[in-house]
Amino acid sequence: MEIQKRVDKKESDGKRGIKSFVLRTNALSLYQKEALELYSETYALAYKEEVIETQKLFKKNQPLIIEIGFGMGDATKRIALEQHDKNFLGIEVFLNGYSKLLSFIGENKIDNLKVIRFDAVSVLSDMILDESVSGFHIFFPDPWPKKRQQKRRLIQPEFASLLARKLKVGGYIYCVTDWVEYAHQMVDVFATIPTLTNPFKGFCEPRSWRPTTSFEKKGIEKEHQIKEIWVEKRSG
Ligand SMILES: C[S@@+](CC[C@H](N)C(=O)[O-])C[C@H]1O[C@@H](n2cnc3c(N)ncnc32)[C@H](O)[C@@H]1O
Repeated sequence: MEIQKRVDKKESDGKRGIKSFVLRTNALSLYQKEALELYSETYALAYKEEVIETQKLFKKNQPLIIEIGFGMGDATKRIALEQHDKNFLGIEVFLNGYSKLLSFIGENKIDNLKVIRFDAVSVLSDMILDESVSGFHIFFPDPWPKKRQQKRRLIQPEFASLLARKLKVGGYIYCVTDWVEYAHQMVDVFATIPTLTNPFKGFCEPRSWRPTTSFEKKGIEKEHQIKEIWVEKRSG
């Protein structure tokens, strides 16, 4: 599979170590295959080791919000439809979810939402200009609960400082998880980044505009507590 080869190549180049995901793919439905053919050119970006002018991707020049790991994209599309004064870029490696969201965007001609299928670490490092992003949404990142897997967690100091570098002053990072111990790790990791501040001094209440995600529903069924973390960039 093309994306796996490219991710492997980056690893062999020594640019990216441990991944925060395992690539899984179920058979695609016909509509998902059609979406890849019909809509990729207009509504998806291809990974390039080159900084892109993100504002030129969208019809309107307005604040850019990046969502990392959107899964099936149900929350993503609702937020983008409700907040049409912002542009959204969704990053996801999971082909089934990616093609499902691409199909929705294409069928409904959504002009403030685009997607890219690649490792978010590479996308942010290589394609996104510093101080160009108004917000990051990271809803239910893989919790990697076992001790020996925890190095795979996305929210680690290096990634947090990459997010902070890409944010504009005043921009935010909004993370939600159903794994309480990971939630504490997030608060602690963000606290180590000097340019970030946590106005809630810990966890925050859910934002009224955040829809319940697919992964969250599974966590609620298992009676997991949902924890929300919101930090902001206070200086350059
Ligand atoms: C637990 S799922 C949550 C999905 C969705 N946000 C939800 O709440 O239903 C985490 C998602 O993050 C994606 N992911 C993990 N690491 C990623 C990375 N480095 N780049 C892009 N996607 C990633 C996975 O493929 C997976 O679909």
